[in-house]
Amino acid sequence: MTNLLTEHRLVFENMQELEEYLERIKKDFNLHLFRKVNNKLDSEIAEKILSGGKRLRPILLLLVFKALNGKDIEKALDVASALELAHNASLTHDDIIDVDFERRGKPTLWRQIGIGRALIEGHRLINLAFQIALSEGLDIARIFLTAWDRSSNGVLKELMNRSLPGKTLYLRIIKEKTASLFEAAAECGALIAGAPPKVIQEAKKYGERVGIAYQLADDYVDIIKGRFSVRSHLIFYNRFEEKIRQIMLAIKLKRTPHLGTILEPKIDWKKFLIEEMARSIREAKEIIEYLDLAEPEKTYLKKFPEYCVYSMLSELS
Ligand code: IPE
Ligand code: MG
Repeated sequence: MTNLLTEHRLVFENMQELEEYLERIKKDFNLHLFRKVNNKLDSEIAEKILSGGKRLRPILLLLVFKALNGKDIEKALDVASALELAHNASLTHDDIIDVDFERRGKPTLWRQIGIGRALIEGHRLINLAFQIALSEGLDIARIFLTAWDRSSNGVLKELMNRSLPGKTLYLRIIKEKTASLFEAAAECGALIAGAPPKVIQEAKKYGERVGIAYQLADDYVDIIKGRFSVRSHLIFYNRFEEKIRQIMLAIKLKRTPHLGTILEPKIDWKKFLIEEMARSIREAKEIIEYLDLAEPEKTYLKKFPEYCVYSMLSELS
């Protein structure tokens, strides 16, 4: 593994300064987030759903916003909160679909409060996120809806696809499923900062590359750890979802098969994921390189894709 990473110059050095800076952003953001959900959600449920996340999407939004000398920080924090809420709702639903038992080191919400309640709490979270987005204006609400639509469409594609995914389909799915929200985060950051349309477009592209790199890293970790997304079983059985859910539960309780067995077996996935990761990181950096941005955020944005990958890969050590 290390060989593959170093071969593609993914070495992750000097992360400490960036980590400290992002930790401060995260702290401010968390305060804002919990204030925002106060009185809108049952505080116990909010705590269960929201605590422990890395906050990568809001951090991305805020970094872009600051790099472009944005002034309306309240608005940036509000929109970042909306994005994080929607993301967390998607995790709540994902865990039900995937029959996952743990999230962020704790039992998943559906295991704590039941599938029915977890589903509805997820929906309520999405509603709240949309309410916030709408209160920030139609442009933001539109970005939000588009991202959400693309993301759910990506997940749906993953669920419905009946053949083993090859490289092209795989990349298309992760762009929709994961990169769409990163793209929206960067776009909102630039928009709220009042950047010109060309810069907003570049920010979007940057966000997409970051999201792709991150999902590649996530899947890489899954392969290395031998974890397996049970969701993929639905590829073949989605008509009997409920019955299959029971079967999946049984499988899960014993041992799950290797992720490598449900991807197109002829492809060297580890190699492919690392190569694509390196490419996305490089492209993201290039975008930042030629944009006129404030320091230190410009430097941090250049490093942020690596930081995302690094925070995912550190699960391996
Ligand atoms: C998990 O997202 C789902 C993916 C798209 C990989 P994160 O890894 O950002 O989840 P948290 O919010 O940090 O737990
Ligand atoms: Mg999952």
